[in-house]
Order: sequence, then C-alpha cells, then structure tokens
Amino acid sequence: MTKSNNHSPIEPQLQESLRHIRRFTTLHPRIGLILGSGLGDFADTLENADRIAASAIPHYPPSTVEGHKGFLVFGRVQQVPVVAVQGRTHFYEGHGIAQVAYVVRLMDGLGVRKLIVTNAAGGVNPFFRPGDLMIIVDHINFLFQNPLRGPVVAPEPRFPDMHDNYHPAYVELIEKIGLQLGIPLKKGVLFVSTGPSYETAAEVRMVRRLGGDAVSMSTVPEVLVARARGMKVAGISCITNLATGISSGPLSHAEVTEIANRVKDKFHKLVRELILQMDALD
Ligand code: HPA
Repeated sequence: MTKSNNHSPIEPQLQESLRHIRRFTTLHPRIGLILGSGLGDFADTLENADRIAASAIPHYPPSTVEGHKGFLVFGRVQQVPVVAVQGRTHFYEGHGIAQVAYVVRLMDGLGVRKLIVTNAAGGVNPFFRPGDLMIIVDHINFLFQNPLRGPVVAPEPRFPDMHDNYHPAYVELIEKIGLQLGIPLKKGVLFVSTGPSYETAAEVRMVRRLGGDAVSMSTVPEVLVARARGMKVAGISCITNLATGISSGPLSHAEVTEIANRVKDKFHKLVRELILQMDALD
C-alpha cells in the first residue's frame, strides 16, 4: 500500500509517479476516463494505446478486486488524446480515501481538464431497469470521508464549491448524444456508500427518501478531487441491478459484471461520442 496519506506530502509522490508514466508514453491526454466494474473494456478500444500497469507506478494504490485490471491506458479516440483508468481503486479495498482519488491528481498533473467517471450502480428509482444508463446529475456522499481532508494540496482550495459538480453542459450533451444515437438514458442522483456489502432493503428505502436514484460504492472520491482542481466532470452509471428490496433475489458481483457486459455496445458508443463532443466544447 502507498503512503499518500495526510501525513506525507503528496506533491513529491505525484512527481515521482508522473516521471514513471512519462517514461512509457508521450501522449498528452486532454480527457480522463475512469471505468467502472465491468466497463473496463472500453480502454481496449483506444487507438495507438500505451498501457501502463498501475502496480508499476510508484505510490499508485494497488487494485485488488476481481474483474478489475489495473492499467492506465493512454490512447486516442480519433484525434482526441485520452487516458483511461482500467480497474479503479475502491475505498472498500482498505485504501485511504485520498489514495482512492490519487489517480485524479495524477491526471491533473498530466494536463487532463475534463473527466468522465463511470460506475456500476443499483437502481433505486422505481422507473429504472437493469441495463439502463443513468446520467449522474449530482451525488450524495455517504462515505462520510473526504479525500480533501488534511493539509491543503495546492492548487485545491480549502473549501471547494460543490455547485454543478456534474457539469450541466455535459449533462445536456450526453442527453443530446443519447437522442442522436437512439440510446435511451435516465438521469439521477448517485448515492455512494462504502460497501463492500450491498445495502439492506431498509437502507435502500432510506436512500430513496433522501433523494438517491442509484447506489454505488465508488466515484465520489474522484469527483471531489477533480472538482477541487477545477476539472469539468461528466458521470454515467450503468444500472446493473435493482437495489436490495426492489429486486426479488440476492445480489452478486457476477450479476453486476454480466449486465455491465451486456450493455457494452451502447456504453462504448455513448462514451466514444461523448469524448469527441466533449473535446469540442470549452
Ligand atoms: N449497490 C451498491 N453498489 C452497486 C450495486 C448496488 O446495488 N450494484 C452495482 N454496484
């Protein structure tokens, strides 16, 4: 495990990580992409890709969850240079919350100013079905942890604003692309708790009453750091299952990855087009 916690200065660690990355790629990504459970294959579609094993990057927290590969993939979608995280780091693996978001500080160091976050999520909104894609419009942080806690890391402000975390122009853009491609999309608020256990039925009723449309175990740490660094963020959840109590049967990770795999085609089309059109926006 890395030592990028609140007690050791993060900047020298970031510089060391960046030096390692620079030895393996000359690409300067403009867009960052974090791929959720079962959605990592998108990284394999990037053109002229340089794949860097996360485990070889100094200070990068190792991924331990099954089905997550653990690579930073640098490549292009047409002319647009991107970096994709294939196998994100999760809080439930036992890493510190700042370590979970380490990759976003790295991306910022690489020049990324636009970020797409994706995840697998359980549907809480009764209108959602497994296989739906949801545009994230806001989140509820039920991790009760914050990667920005501790000494201020320049250029992040002490008290970052949380308006428009999910950039409204990107929300509109994703809706437009959905119409252009004939991909129906939902919109909603992502509720994030630590996992790794799925929610109880009573917790899911609470989530609904508190305003959540989908539940997940990721994404919030990365978005908090991205926003503190002034990046613009787009978010897409893949509804892989109905949350506990809304679904009839038990939940399994196998079901989550199977449904994510089934929506692969439309997810790839949507994200590809989003990258192209996001790059053309300010
Ligand atoms: N709950 C939390 N996280 C998830 C779920 C869920 O039902 N499905 C996929 N990730």
